[in-house]
Amino acid sequence: MADSAPRGESFAESRTAIFFGKQADASSWLDFVRCAGWHVAVAETEPDLRRLLARRDFQVGLIHLDDSRRAVWEQLSEDADLVGLTEWVALVESAAITRPEIQRAIVRGFYDFHTLPVQANRLLVTMGRANGMVTLQAGASGETRTQRYRMVGRSDCMRRLQKVIQRAAATSAPVLITGESGTGKELAAQALHDQSPRRNGPMVAVNCSALTSPAGQCELLGYEHGDVPGSGRPAIGKIEAAHGGTLFLDEIGDLPMEQQVSLLRFLQSGTIQRARGYEPTPVDVRVVAATHVDLEEAIGEGRFREDLYYRLNVLHVPVPALRERGLDILSLAHYFFKRFRSEGQSRLKGFSVRAEESMLRHPWPGNVRELINRVRRAVVMADGRMITSVDLGIEERAGDRLPTLQEARERAEKEALMLVLAYSSDNLSRAARLLDVSRLTLYRMLDKHCLRESAAQSDERKETG
Ligand SMILES: Nc1ncnc2c1ncn2[C@@H]1O[C@H](COP(=O)(O)OP(=O)(O)OP(=O)(O)O)[C@@H](O)[C@H]1O
Ligand SMILES: [Mg+2]
Repeated sequence: MADSAPRGESFAESRTAIFFGKQADASSWLDFVRCAGWHVAVAETEPDLRRLLARRDFQVGLIHLDDSRRAVWEQLSEDADLVGLTEWVALVESAAITRPEIQRAIVRGFYDFHTLPVQANRLLVTMGRANGMVTLQAGASGETRTQRYRMVGRSDCMRRLQKVIQRAAATSAPVLITGESGTGKELAAQALHDQSPRRNGPMVAVNCSALTSPAGQCELLGYEHGDVPGSGRPAIGKIEAAHGGTLFLDEIGDLPMEQQVSLLRFLQSGTIQRARGYEPTPVDVRVVAATHVDLEEAIGEGRFREDLYYRLNVLHVPVPALRERGLDILSLAHYFFKRFRSEGQSRLKGFSVRAEESMLRHPWPGNVRELINRVRRAVVMADGRMITSVDLGIEERAGDRLPTLQEARERAEKEALMLVLAYSSDNLSRAARLLDVSRLTLYRMLDKHCLRESAAQSDERKETG
């Protein structure tokens, strides 16, 4: 994987692209495009592509679209989070462009296509336009691309989490991330890697429950020549693949006993011994493990080695459950609403007051993932201009207490505000006139009901646009 994309630059400053294809096949245009100021990372294989896409910092994607890469692309494109932030350009053999399956793939997911051999100057123009589209889309959603994948939340517990991640990122000590399912453990691991001095190295994620022996042993440690039937090549394992970067051991509680021993040996010695290999190989990786099960209980039941637990749990990063995050629940709901609105009905304005109240009361057993799913479904299913608790599938519970007069007034005020904002298409001067209040009063009311940010952004865009 050849990678010349710098990290940490803002998107305004850098133009970054990814090329999925053989580096040798790109020789006629790659240097030209790089000389023109593009940073191009090359992914020759599917795992390389997935790893690079997980960084989510490419504006333009180029694919040499043959049948095998088309299959990979079709599978990946089901995950809008992974490929949806990039505009894709297909590079196609002229003979293949008449084939219906290639045409279908291009129409479905690509911004443009070029036939091979590529004319470098024309490709550069297309890349410039695709880049422009990405910038426009980011502007239209009111978010930059980096903001889009940030860790949302300003509650005390989320601030604490961000501080712990920041501190842990500066060291190379092993980290154990704990938290219920769907709370954002993987996101925390990614943030740790991205903020660490190893951010230019790989982050290799391993699902420990899939490492059943003996294939799991090979997957973790690699194997020497011809050890695996059907393969004559030596292969490096996941630990070695993470050399210079971070090894993310997801669901560590499910790691089979045999692999627990290998991992412990590696943590103690900093070396690995490939299957059937004789020489230990030193490997420099930072280990981050995550679990949603209680490891101390697993130790008590004899399913997890106590010595491994202490080796992994040098720094502990607990990720709070969503129900503990207070108003972050609403920030997250609005954040995902904005992301999904373009997939559904653009006339939708937000959540009704009752929907917000019921979200704050809901226990969220599935945490952030549950919230994402409910919002996504509601954006598609909602009939009115506001998403209701019924759209979210969060039933109003019988026996909920009646609102006080003050609460009823506040609710009525917020509903009136949202209605007028929707009616005036977020034009604040017009909204103030309709409500018969000054612009200043309107701003105060927007602040009080946490509506200022979205209304002001859209108002600014209108006034400058
Ligand atoms: N604070 C947050 N801000 C924005 N998105 C978040 C946040 N927390 C979680 N998410 C999103 O929620 C989803 C679930 O997060 P993630 O996969 O990291 O959870 P997890 O704890 O690893 O879950 P599991 O235990 O099921 O593996 C992802 O799409 C992630 O991007
Ligand atoms: Mg996970």
